[in-house]
Amino acid sequence: MSEKMWAGRFKKQLDSEVNDFNSSIRVDCRMYRSDINGSIAHAAMLGKQGIISKDDAEKIIEGLSDILADLESESLQFDMNAEDIHMFVEAELTKRIGDTGKKLHTARSRNDQVALDIRLHLRDEANEVVAILRELISVITNKAEEHKATVMPGYTHLQRAQPITFGHHLMAYAQMFLRDISRIEDAAARMNFSPLGSCALAGTTYPTDRMTVATALNMSGICENSLDGVSDRDFTVELASAASLVMMHLSRFSEEIILWSSWEFKFIELDDAYSTGSSIMPQKKNPDIAELVRGKTGRVYGNLVTLLTMLKGLPLAYNKDMQEDKEAIFDSIDTLKQCISIFTPMLNTMTVIEKNMKDAAAKGFINATDVADYLTKRGVPFRTAYKISGTLVAYCIDKNTVLENLSLAEFKEFSDVFEEDVFDAINLENCTFRRNSEGGTAIESVEAQIKSVRAKL
Ligand code: ARG
Repeated sequence: MSEKMWAGRFKKQLDSEVNDFNSSIRVDCRMYRSDINGSIAHAAMLGKQGIISKDDAEKIIEGLSDILADLESESLQFDMNAEDIHMFVEAELTKRIGDTGKKLHTARSRNDQVALDIRLHLRDEANEVVAILRELISVITNKAEEHKATVMPGYTHLQRAQPITFGHHLMAYAQMFLRDISRIEDAAARMNFSPLGSCALAGTTYPTDRMTVATALNMSGICENSLDGVSDRDFTVELASAASLVMMHLSRFSEEIILWSSWEFKFIELDDAYSTGSSIMPQKKNPDIAELVRGKTGRVYGNLVTLLTMLKGLPLAYNKDMQEDKEAIFDSIDTLKQCISIFTPMLNTMTVIEKNMKDAAAKGFINATDVADYLTKRGVPFRTAYKISGTLVAYCIDKNTVLENLSLAEFKEFSDVFEEDVFDAINLENCTFRRNSEGGTAIESVEAQIKSVRAKL
């Protein structure tokens, strides 16, 4: 264990188990880029403001840039005995450029430093998640285009309800993921303010220029209250919450893929590369990937609760509890990125079994609403028409037949409003393709949705 930077006040070294307990480098080392870029911006500002000499600032910036390059090329390894990434970088800098390195931490504290690092790091992660969500949506819209005329049953209560197209069904997910993008972008915009210069909690007596640092880091502005600057972790909660919603959407989609690939439905077949076999039952092809995505949703929800609970009782300003934020939010982001990246090609490569979708739609009296609508359009009050249609369904169940197989004479026994054109009205394709209201399942309505979503991408 190397000597701590704060060793001055202490007579004894830290117990080694305590050192491990206290250290966060295993988790926060991934923020090295943000940490070094933040320090470079800080050093430049110190030089510009005359808080340190221009020469010193240049030396520090050069040293930091070298460290960054060496970490990127992996010629420099993290010291896992260091307390955290901030201490590691500063120690390495001092090792390389001597005492000048010790000037970097002027007018700064690890409290505002770490707050800045997480914001910068999560801002990049948020951008990456948005990029892969866009890819997912574009795969969804392409599939929807391909299947804008593929008829399948639409369900409520998982009971066949009304016929829809598979394209229409898919486009519902496009809407969910679009909302997810907007939520993530929103969270990213709110986190893009610099806490640096809040120092330990109260600001500083040095003539700092916080806005210069924020601008250098491409941030929209500065946190206006130094206590808030160092103690705010709302943005981790916001991102964890947005991540939870994405996972919930992926999980619902997974659940459908699992159902659809069962023998009971057989609406789709997953590509061999995205399914697994059983160690004992040779006939099996399991949708493990979809199940894992559904399963991993739990840990992402858990991380959200971890963050909310970690923050709820904390007095202002910084408390060490907050070190726990990173493990939770990083795990959510890692899980999310992994799930989206594997879900997208799984969806892209699956085979749609159109015949089974259509056969399922032809069963289950899925056109009973259209029988009622037929009567209503001819002057029968909807409630009365609904009852007539229901009685017809009961009649068909008794006779073990379906509505479209009845004769006109049989229809007329229930209402003399029925004419020959009832068969046209309850034809499966017609029931589907005539629902051309905005947002409906008709081909042109689905095309309009696809167009609008593509414009937003
Ligand atoms: N590793 C710490 C964290 O993640 C950095 C801040 C430490 N600040 C302090 N006052 N001990 O929160």
